[in-house]
Amino acid sequence: MSGHEFIAAFDDASGIDTHDEQTSIGETTIAEMREIMARYPDQRSALLPMLHLVQSVDGRISDAGVKICADLLGISTAQVNGVATFYTMYKRRPAGHHHIGVCTTTVCAVMGGDVLLDQMKDKLGIDEGETTPDGMFSLERLECNAACDFAPVMMVNWEFMDQMTPEKANELIDNLQAGKEVHSTRGAHITSWAEAERVLAGFSDGLADEGPTAAGASLAGLKIAREKGWKSPTPPAPAEPAADDGGESK
Ligand code: FES
Repeated sequence: MSGHEFIAAFDDASGIDTHDEQTSIGETTIAEMREIMARYPDQRSALLPMLHLVQSVDGRISDAGVKICADLLGISTAQVNGVATFYTMYKRRPAGHHHIGVCTTTVCAVMGGDVLLDQMKDKLGIDEGETTPDGMFSLERLECNAACDFAPVMMVNWEFMDQMTPEKANELIDNLQAGKEVHSTRGAHITSWAEAERVLAGFSDGLADEGPTAAGASLAGLKIAREKGWKSPTPPAPAEPAADDGGESK
């Protein structure tokens, strides 16, 4: 032991409670982790969905969850933590019952994403990366959701809320707070962040077919192409493989 205190590179890393050993992971979850592992020829590939399962049970990537994943996969906790801290969908601090995301990348920013994010901070009384004291909401600034044609977009538990306005955003939070049934603008009804994480772990909630998979502006180009009879060019036939010369140069 060097006796030196670890200094984190990021200011907000101090918010992670590294002594928090609480977990709700039990035999059922461990059995489900083994089920996930069995889906992959290389079991280590199961780590990402296993981490989503940890979040669905513990509300965050708990240290216990990291250790269990490492043990089951035969890898180090450093390797698991390396993955869990690389992807922003994994949270080291508890997310809220509903996780709110606001896209502020270019198109959404131009269309009012920054205004929406500021409004959500005021409305929820928290900053981005924080969770309300009652655990009801957490807030995150999102990078482009590949839904620029519906800008500005927000997400609740990874479900899309398209073409948001300050009024619609306020109403959304009020309805979630009141426990009313809320639907994504694309149809799916909003459950909870924990339930959404379980779906990302590969356990269906049976709601995948709620609402359209594509609509509106996303299909405008296709509609015009059909009206005009446009078709994509036929790709050239693949080249014939060269005759095997036995590996000898001539
Ligand atoms: S910039 Fe927001 S979805 Fe692309």
